[in-house]
Amino acid sequence: MRLSASVALLGLAVSPAWALCPYAEKMALEKKSSIPHPPAPREVSSSGKKGIFYMNRIAPGTSELYVANVDGTNERPLLSNPIYEYHAAFSPDGQWVTFTGERNGDGNSDIYRVRTNGSDLEELEATSSIEDGAVMSPNGKQVAYVSTANGYKANIWVMDLETGHKWNVTDTVSTAANASLPNGYFRPSWSPDGQWIAFSSDRNSGWYGHGDPVFMGVSGWEHTQELSIYVIRPNGSDFRRVVSKSGYCLGSPKWSPNGKRILYYEMTRENTWNSHRPESINTSNSTLVSVDFASGAGRRVEVAGSGVKIFPQYISDSTIAWFAKGSGKEGLHTSAGGFFNTSSSTIRSPAWSPDGKQVVYEKTSWDVVRPMDKKLYSWDEDWEYRFTDVFPQLSNTNKIAMTEKQLGNSSIVSLSANGTNEHLVYDDLKSDFLDASSVAMGTAGAFNPGWSPDGKWVTFGVGFWFQSRATGGGWLVRTTANGTYSEVLTESETTLESNSSVINSGFPSYSHDGKKIIFRVWGTNSTLGDRSQLGLRLLDLDTRKISVLTNEWDNLPSFSPDGERIVFTRKVSDYNYDVCTMRSDGSDLKVLTSSGANDAHAVWTWDGRIAYSSGMFGFQYECALYDQTFQPYGQVIVMDVDGSNKRVLTDSIWEDSMPMFVPNSKLRR
Ligand SMILES: *[C@@H]1O[C@H](CO)[C@@H](O)[C@H](O)[C@H]1NC(C)=O
Ligand SMILES: *[C@@H]1O[C@H](CO)[C@@H](O)[C@H](O)[C@H]1NC(C)=O
Ligand SMILES: *[C@@H]1O[C@H](CO)[C@@H](O)[C@H](O)[C@H]1NC(C)=O
Ligand SMILES: *[C@@H]1O[C@H](CO)[C@@H](O)[C@H](O)[C@H]1NC(C)=O
Ligand SMILES: *[C@@H]1O[C@H](CO)[C@@H](O)[C@H](O)[C@H]1NC(C)=O
Ligand SMILES: *[C@@H]1O[C@H](CO)[C@@H](O)[C@H](O)[C@H]1NC(C)=O
Ligand SMILES: *[C@@H]1O[C@H](CO)[C@@H](O)[C@H](O)[C@H]1NC(C)=O
Ligand SMILES: *[C@@H]1O[C@H](CO)[C@@H](O)[C@H](O)[C@H]1NC(C)=O
Ligand SMILES: *[C@@H]1O[C@H](CO)[C@@H](O)[C@H](O)[C@H]1NC(C)=O
Ligand SMILES: *[C@@H]1O[C@H](CO)[C@@H](O)[C@H](O)[C@H]1NC(C)=O
Ligand SMILES: *[C@@H]1O[C@H](CO)[C@@H](O)[C@H](O)[C@H]1NC(C)=O
Ligand SMILES: *[C@@H]1O[C@H](CO)[C@@H](O)[C@H](O)[C@H]1NC(C)=O
Repeated sequence: MRLSASVALLGLAVSPAWALCPYAEKMALEKKSSIPHPPAPREVSSSGKKGIFYMNRIAPGTSELYVANVDGTNERPLLSNPIYEYHAAFSPDGQWVTFTGERNGDGNSDIYRVRTNGSDLEELEATSSIEDGAVMSPNGKQVAYVSTANGYKANIWVMDLETGHKWNVTDTVSTAANASLPNGYFRPSWSPDGQWIAFSSDRNSGWYGHGDPVFMGVSGWEHTQELSIYVIRPNGSDFRRVVSKSGYCLGSPKWSPNGKRILYYEMTRENTWNSHRPESINTSNSTLVSVDFASGAGRRVEVAGSGVKIFPQYISDSTIAWFAKGSGKEGLHTSAGGFFNTSSSTIRSPAWSPDGKQVVYEKTSWDVVRPMDKKLYSWDEDWEYRFTDVFPQLSNTNKIAMTEKQLGNSSIVSLSANGTNEHLVYDDLKSDFLDASSVAMGTAGAFNPGWSPDGKWVTFGVGFWFQSRATGGGWLVRTTANGTYSEVLTESETTLESNSSVINSGFPSYSHDGKKIIFRVWGTNSTLGDRSQLGLRLLDLDTRKISVLTNEWDNLPSFSPDGERIVFTRKVSDYNYDVCTMRSDGSDLKVLTSSGANDAHAVWTWDGRIAYSSGMFGFQYECALYDQTFQPYGQVIVMDVDGSNKRVLTDSIWEDSMPMFVPNSKLRR
């Protein structure tokens, strides 16, 4: 294993003669001849925009609607010109399909309807907020949907299709909830008589993490969701909770044909995390349950057993259909024994026609990845939004380094600020530290590249991250910008032993004078509250001495461009991370965010402000129904260095993160 040789570098002074160093890793990197994602043409120079705003999005690469017979035969595309659509539903008269589309820009959810034969496509509502989950009323005159037009929070709205008049029903005096807690409303469903709308909500629940409780709370910061089932009249009166179960998520309510019972899926709160992670979906499960609408009592288990059963729906008085995700039984099932095996394609959010004979769903692909530089919807019109892979960082010499996580194997690449000259800098799979399956799962890789101020070096962590960092190693590495030489800067082991001194180091960043690297450490004893293996450290590149800057649960540190302050993320209580700054000597701590949700992963912008990801607006959709993500509802916010002037830069139902502004001046070079 290369590790032993690499560790031998520890303590050696850095010398300009590094190229002669016998331990130098010759990675034998080949410059990729065919770049899978050539730079797309830019409009910024002529459009009057200030430059490019890069960000990452965790969402399927493609999503197209199909209609099929209930047994899966006669499948055909719903739309003649699909762009990116999902979350479809039949109208109660079976004539229409309502759906969500991103036809006005990648990431901007709007609602539409179309006849079941694909004609008469009509935009129902299209704003820069999220519109999603549209369902037509039984009399065909109204549509209920989810919108984030009330301050970025998911609420239920109703629109009159004739007049276009629209109103929210869940942000009123009668539905008032504790604003510091989650307060989202999802998946509306009309009662057969049109008198009620049922939906799920996490209102007044908590900002819960996941995993076994350990020192300072849970082991996973990503939030789980505790939903209950509610009903309201379309005019906003008679708001009522129908059923809830402490520690459980009750989601996606649907009515029985006679309107007397409400059907939903029930899973533990913890399983809302497991249900959207590929490494744990097979061990997750849910139960399909119904209750009496009038009393909320008479709980009846409709479908039990293993597997994640979601999207339940009555397709007759006595038959229930649902979708099973993962666990080797993926597909459309009915309680009459029907099974349409969909494991050969990723089908999601099926909805059945009122007569139970047809089903509409989206087919999504994660293999088709957004190309680097794909244009996204621009919530800030001054900037052209574009897609980037993760951890992008701009050097003082106008080069970008990033981790190719979605586009590759979590290796480090560099490219010119204008998107040309992509170059492989470090191949994590060739490093021998990592196994390919953890990399494929997204929990290991070469993460968070940081440029030296002169643009000659790139430093990053190679190791196991997220939940796998609890037991897996992490090494600081730096390479020359051309990737011909790399060295390992800290010790670790593949497996962290309990009670051992071996730690996981990662998320490095150069000091503005290039002499030090700041990074975060983690050891198994951290779980027990031993702060000696926790916090931020400074590595002096001349002496190779490591000094302690903090002993808190801190991560993602980086020096401001002027070297005055360090921005970082701190776990301030069991379930809550905030964005903080301190002086470069560790003094003068300032906590810049205050939401009960996670505010994290802050980076400096080119003009010395701070951009970060926030969960403060809560979920925009039911947590268990997502795939592949970590914190599905992350939105990007930018603020001044003192935490003032916070401005929201995204409003999508997807996990948006990794912001990087590249102003025109840096593109033209
Ligand atoms: C689709 O259905 C509508 C309503 O039934 C009908 O008017 C229209 O001609 C159909 N279009 C096609 C292409 O079949
Ligand atoms: C939501 O509805 C309530 C009650 O009608 C109203 O007071 C509030 O202003 C509405 N919010 C928005 C954003 O329309
Ligand atoms: C709202 O929730 C916060 C956080 O749990 C709690 O501190 C506060 O007391 C609650 N406020 C009300 C009015 O219940
Ligand atoms: C809302 O609708 C219900 C049922 O139709 C009706 O009884 C009630 O008066 C309405 N409320 C308002 C404020 O219009
Ligand atoms: C479902 O998951 C829960 C929580 O993980 C577990 O306790 C239970 O045994 C599982 N049930 C089945 C049938 O797999
Ligand atoms: C989950 O189960 C499916 C089908 O049995 C299998 O192909 C897949 O590898 C499993 N995933 C994991 C992480 O074990
Ligand atoms: C579904 O189909 C796949 C391959 O097409 C097969 O491997 C799998 O066993 C099938 N699942 C079930 C539950 O029959
Ligand atoms: C990722 O690794 C696989 C297996 O080693 C290789 O075939 C593929 O080309 C790599 N992809 C990229 C983008 O480097
Ligand atoms: C992109 O920037 C590089 C310098 O990094 C320059 O050589 C190249 O000409 C630029 N290409 C375009 C298309 O602007
Ligand atoms: C790589 O970069 C180093 C440091 O800048 C330089 O000395 C070396 O010549 C470069 N190697 C190649 C092959 O360009
Ligand atoms: C250290 O390891 C021993 C033996 O495995 C174990 O009994 C003990 O609880 C551990 N100490 C801590 C603090 O985890
Ligand atoms: C980890 O904790 C155990 C038990 O408290 C202790 O014996 C051991 O020295 C600790 N390891 C380190 C590296 O601090």
